[in-house]
Amino acid sequence: MKDMSAAFIQMRVPVERNQPVARNTYLLRFRAADMARSIKPGQFFMVRLPQGSDPLLGRPFALYDTVLDETGTPVGIDFVYLVVGKMTSRLSQLRPGDELEVWGPLGNGFPDLADVEHVGLVAGGIGQTPFLAYARSLRGQRGYGDAALRKQPARVSIYYGVRSADLLAGVADFQATGAAVHIAAEDGSAGFHGRVTGLLADHERPQHLVGCGPEPMLHALADLARAWKVPCHLSLETPMACGVGICFTCVTPVRTADGWDYRRVCIDGPVFDAACLAWTE
Ligand SMILES: Cc1cc2nc3c(=O)[nH]c(=O)nc-3n(C[C@H](O)[C@H](O)[C@H](O)COP(=O)(O)OP(=O)(O)OC[C@H]3O[C@@H](n4cnc5c(N)ncnc54)[C@H](O)[C@@H]3O)c2cc1C
Ligand code: FES
Repeated sequence: MKDMSAAFIQMRVPVERNQPVARNTYLLRFRAADMARSIKPGQFFMVRLPQGSDPLLGRPFALYDTVLDETGTPVGIDFVYLVVGKMTSRLSQLRPGDELEVWGPLGNGFPDLADVEHVGLVAGGIGQTPFLAYARSLRGQRGYGDAALRKQPARVSIYYGVRSADLLAGVADFQATGAAVHIAAEDGSAGFHGRVTGLLADHERPQHLVGCGPEPMLHALADLARAWKVPCHLSLETPMACGVGICFTCVTPVRTADGWDYRRVCIDGPVFDAACLAWTE
């Protein structure tokens, strides 16, 4: 069984910024220098409101990016969230100076694709959030944690699908990485008219795909990657209660030598090789 004692930091942190960036979508910045120094793209942290017990459980959020001070030292964390329920509604009401309880960095993070020339990042809706830091690291713009800067920048294409144009967030941030950013909207209000997998199929095949978004979209992406014989990693958005391997609320079936078994997304993921997930054929 995987070690659950891997180092993570739990603390109360002040909110520095909480601003709308798209419809029902906010960017929240908190100050947490220790976490900002160690967190890597694809990792996440749990967030809880320190006052009271409603909601009782913390919720997982991905690193959008680290915040640097004027000397280039990481001092804070940005995350971007979509308001869907109780916690995210409460988060949207926070003001600078309010406090959050956070613990992290958690999870395995994205793979190091050091030798891949063209990486395709495929985002469904709010599943775009982990890709800014990853694109910056793949493009050799910024190092995270103890990882060295990539010497040879990868070519990165971002395929970003939303239901409608007013949900698009962070497009200018993605473009600033030098990635080619391709947009799809299901209602035809921006870019390609349709789903993000249709958008991807309309372009040159990257050598490696990495996806994040709702499960039906990840299924479709895994199917496409298998048909193309392109390696694919998926970051799962499974609901979680503890984030650190204790509660077993986050399991997903994976292939094993003798069939399949469950793995905890919080400590074995959230990023999995699509070929290992037992929900892909
Ligand atoms: C590793 C990881 C990283 C994540 N990063 C982000 C992020 O950067 N930004 C972001 O906005 N969200 C992210 N999420 C999803 C986020 O954790 C949920 O949206 C959040 O927990 C919802 O909390 P809530 O109290 O507002 O909603 P709740 O009141 O708990 O739920 C509201 C509704 O949403 C559904 N729901 C809740 N969580 C999920 C889920 N994970 N998948 C599908 N349906 C769900 C519930 O069934 C319910 O119908 C991430 C999830 C994981 C596992
Ligand atoms: S969230 Fe508790 S074990 Fe994964």
